[in-house]
Amino acid sequence: MIKYNFDEIINRRETDSIKWSKKHLQENFGDEESIPMWIADMDFKVAQPIIEALTERAQHGIFGYGYKSDEFLESVVNWHKKRNGWDIEKEWILFTPGIIPALNFIVETFCKPGDKVIIQSPVYYPFANIITNNGCHIANNPLIFNNGKYEMNFSELERIAQDSRTKLMFLCSPHNPVGRVWTAEELQRLGEICLENNVLVVSDEIHSDLIYQPNCHIPFGKISEEFKMNSIICTSPSKTFNLAGLHISDIIIPNESLREELNHKLTTIDIDPGSFASVAQITAYNNGEEWLEQLIEYLQNNLDLIDKFIKERMQGVKLVRPEGTYLAWLDFSELNFTDVELQQMMQKKAKIALDDGYIFGAGGEHFQRINFACPRTILVKSLENIEKSLMDLVSIGR
Ligand SMILES: Cc1ncc(COP(=O)(O)O)c(C=O)c1O
Repeated sequence: MIKYNFDEIINRRETDSIKWSKKHLQENFGDEESIPMWIADMDFKVAQPIIEALTERAQHGIFGYGYKSDEFLESVVNWHKKRNGWDIEKEWILFTPGIIPALNFIVETFCKPGDKVIIQSPVYYPFANIITNNGCHIANNPLIFNNGKYEMNFSELERIAQDSRTKLMFLCSPHNPVGRVWTAEELQRLGEICLENNVLVVSDEIHSDLIYQPNCHIPFGKISEEFKMNSIICTSPSKTFNLAGLHISDIIIPNESLREELNHKLTTIDIDPGSFASVAQITAYNNGEEWLEQLIEYLQNNLDLIDKFIKERMQGVKLVRPEGTYLAWLDFSELNFTDVELQQMMQKKAKIALDDGYIFGAGGEHFQRINFACPRTILVKSLENIEKSLMDLVSIGR
């Protein structure tokens, strides 16, 4: 067994990392030295088998056009069987170089300008841009924040879905940024409403391998035959294995006619996995589980640390404890700061780069999202900076 060291601090500055680049930190947070706890990638080295396989591929020295080999497709089939008990077929899988491109292609393919797409804010903010950039309208069904827990508003969902212009629903499962892992009952109700109203469910399951027990991820297409035929399931090894820069995603569409429609678009644009993407996915899915189990344990300990730190040292701040993902949603509403004041405090005083809650849409105001997939010393330093800034503000009576 390899014992991975997630405490290791690795300098990412010279690797064109958006999260760490001085340029992006300066532009977005006004300080190139802010501690980067924003954008969703991890500061951990990937699993050793992936590094070795990529090195070997690089040594081969020829990087011509690639394709979705059987081995590539089988790695996805076996992964979903092993992790989620979900049986899928190789033929159902389309390749796109990321889920954002996939969602764009999906809206282009299945909607026409003026159509509506359902989202549930606060949610991963590119969803909104994808919809409006394609000439469609956002049909927002904000989540309900009930006693510290987020829930879906099913009666409102039903009302929105009944509009004949509503064609798609972007389901974020697990939900970024609030960290919910939706239960079978919740998915069942959502699926029924969409089915009854001819709304196609696009389930973005990019975070689905990062789940904290006793929660359990349920692939939307696994719930029933009818849901399977009324859904597009977007999956990827990128969050799970820290491979976002290799641009890999696997779009699972059991319904043949829907698949043919999307495939037509992808074939015209001519998209296939790159040489490194193929090797990375195959190795991650076939040999990455040992690393993943250790990663989840490390993340869980980071989460416990945040929980304890906030309870003991940040009065007025609350953690909405995520059931999955490495993103924690911090509630500052009790402190009565405006969003600008909160932003200024994080940027100018704490000198930490977090994602402002309001960018995730209605309901995100007064929250901040922190990415805790980093070595523990960096996490502690960030929390201490926030604590100190809060104490300074309290001491000057703000
Ligand atoms: C819910 C969700 N979907 C999609 C993405 C991005 O996917 P990709 O990098 O494959 O385009 C992210 C990244 O944070 C995400 O959180």
